[in-house]
Amino acid sequence: MSESFYQKTNESPDQPFEASLRPPAFSEFIGQDKAKERLQLMVDAAKMRGDVLDHVLLTGPPGLGKTTLANIIANAVGTTIHTTSGPQIEKAGDLAGILTNLQKGDILFIDEIHRLHPAIEEYLYPAMEDFRLDIIIDSGPSARSIQLNLPKFTLVGATTRAGMLTAPLRSRFGFTNRLDYYNLEDLASVIERSAGLLEVEVERAGAIQIASRSRGTPRVANALLRWTRDYAQVKADGKINEKIADDALTMIEIDSDGLDEMDKRLLEAMIYKFNGGPVGISSLAVAVGEDASTIEDVHEPFLIMQGLFKRTPRGRMAMPAAYEKIGAPVPPKAQEELF
Ligand SMILES: Nc1ncnc2c1ncn2[C@@H]1O[C@H](COP(=O)(O)OP(=O)(O)OP(=O)(O)O)[C@@H](O)[C@H]1O
Ligand SMILES: [Mg+2]
Repeated sequence: MSESFYQKTNESPDQPFEASLRPPAFSEFIGQDKAKERLQLMVDAAKMRGDVLDHVLLTGPPGLGKTTLANIIANAVGTTIHTTSGPQIEKAGDLAGILTNLQKGDILFIDEIHRLHPAIEEYLYPAMEDFRLDIIIDSGPSARSIQLNLPKFTLVGATTRAGMLTAPLRSRFGFTNRLDYYNLEDLASVIERSAGLLEVEVERAGAIQIASRSRGTPRVANALLRWTRDYAQVKADGKINEKIADDALTMIEIDSDGLDEMDKRLLEAMIYKFNGGPVGISSLAVAVGEDASTIEDVHEPFLIMQGLFKRTPRGRMAMPAAYEKIGAPVPPKAQEELF
């Protein structure tokens, strides 16, 4: 159950409850202090100069607050945000339509920017650099290029895969910001803030309990909080303490480190089917019956952060902690990998 539970929260990130829990201002955005301070400074500077904010790239695993920050930036600048995503822009005409609709100073937020079609990317370069769009109309002998001048705008790009961005695109951002997994304290504060908005009582120890199983990710923390709230309502008096949180999360098989069923399946496949690796992501994906890109975006970064997986040029390998996690003896081969 935990697997589908997580998938559900991950696949429809913009369900209404998420929007309602989204902090609207830097002051309410918890953690990520470095990113927050830098962005705030950039916004302040642009405002002081009466200038349009430079293009910003936000990177990091799903659910850490990229979309949230894009909206906060727009609020802080006091401008309109237009939201789209890489796969949504199919033709040059789509991009032209979006760009010509912008007003000076507007924010264009392109989510999953690594999934932009290469041909569309080419159109984006002059638009970002010189606020100019060269489009070719007609084809064959009557084909001609027309140039449109665009208002000065800010592109905010978000991606879970910074590595998949082409160098020319990356270099056109004035500023790149990597979001990291949240620490326990910050995550507990996210949970307390959300609990306040959901009007549910949660003790600090309960918030810490949920936080420690939330994979450093606010989106997961909010999803687990909602589940725990339901559990507390039905099984107790609605208040969330440490014990209630523990029971609630154990019921959906989220372990004490936040590993869910799919994470464990990945560890088991790695160790029992592939002898600890190295193994390629596509073989692993087939073995566990999960989409390779979901493994790469969602599961792998967390397993690596936990010291369970390691990426090598030959493929993924299990670290000694992975064997311990599933209760298998650690082979000498895995011990060597530590050095
Ligand atoms: N720093 C934070 N403080 C409080 N809540 C946060 C914070 N960061 C994220 N959240 C909460 O987590 C949810 C997920 O964040 P968001 O949608 O911005 O993630 P994302 O990085 O855009 O994910 P994806 O890559 O899947 O699009 C938000 O709805 C918000 O409620
Ligand atoms: Mg997002």
